[in-house]
Amino acid sequence: MIHTRISGTGSYLPGEPVDNASLIAKHQIDSSDDWIVERTGIRQRHLAAAGVTSSDLALEASRRALDAAGRLPADVDLIIVATSTPDYVFPSAAALLQSKLGIINGAAAFDVQAVCSGFVYALNIAEKFIRSGSHKCALVVGAEVFSRILDWKERGTCVLFGDGAGAVVLEAADKPGLLASAFHADGSHHGILSVPGQVCGGVVTGDPFLRMDGQAVFKFAVKVLADVAHEVLAAAGMTADQVDWLIPHQANVRILQATAKRLHLPPEKCVVTVAEHGNTSAASIPLALDTAVRDGRIRRGQNLLLEGVGGGFTWGATLLEY
Ligand code: UT7
Repeated sequence: MIHTRISGTGSYLPGEPVDNASLIAKHQIDSSDDWIVERTGIRQRHLAAAGVTSSDLALEASRRALDAAGRLPADVDLIIVATSTPDYVFPSAAALLQSKLGIINGAAAFDVQAVCSGFVYALNIAEKFIRSGSHKCALVVGAEVFSRILDWKERGTCVLFGDGAGAVVLEAADKPGLLASAFHADGSHHGILSVPGQVCGGVVTGDPFLRMDGQAVFKFAVKVLADVAHEVLAAAGMTADQVDWLIPHQANVRILQATAKRLHLPPEKCVVTVAEHGNTSAASIPLALDTAVRDGRIRRGQNLLLEGVGGGFTWGATLLEY
């Protein structure tokens, strides 16, 4: 039987961090550091400079993940980039990343668009490719420049998001690895989190900015993150107390705390990077994973529960032995 294991992680954050006070001053937002910290836990975020794209951020994160895995770009036979802010309408950010990495072996490359669940979707898709025997070494990336779709006049959203990328190398292995995964969607909730604009006849029509019903999203997120965590634990025949690290999508520290509580996990078992990164959508889970791997908290052999929720609505989880 073919198993899959993460052989390396990497991440990248553009530029210097921008704290709440600087963001508020720059965009003249009717907000305060106190409100943002108290309601979200966010203290700062990184914002990509003009002209820097998701595939640029993905490139740096991917190089670091490949280094950590001891792999060369030429070893990669599958590239999946999770992003809702790709460089272009097409080609995909994955194809651009392939070009920037100099991969000329014909590796498959495509994007996954599942918003903040995108990385979990991409990881689960890559796992299925590898377990089928069709591919051996996947580069799975979450990369976003959400700052490009923010309405700086809307204080309920513009203070929440940041830019960045995280990547993992997922390889065929003799032993697990990824233990259980699940991913779901319910499109009937599309209206509570969306960017409702489109490109038509060479112009953007409709509304090109992120719109969100924050409270509806909050309630939905807490429920499905608990449900999907229980689903993958049951599928693996494990209980929550066997989880060493919970790594949820980093949207709001209150959602992270509520999720850990519902799983009866102590808050210190939850990796929290939202204070430093803000919400980086599809990049947030691999960014948090790489942060905790590199600072020594996550060690080989530990059980990790990754889970995401986002626009669509989409949600999913992956339980793995690191
Ligand atoms: O990654 C995708 C998933 N996204 C999420 O998971 C986000 C989920 N939602 C949330 O994190 C929270 O709902 C928010 C952080 C977006 C909002 O927090 P909240 O506690 O739900 O606040 P609220 O929307 O109920 O607003 C409370 C008050 C309102 O003022 P009034 O009507 O009570 O006078 C807002 O206008 O806070 C006001 N407000 C702000 N005040 C200062 C909203 N945004 C701000 C702001 N600064 N930035």
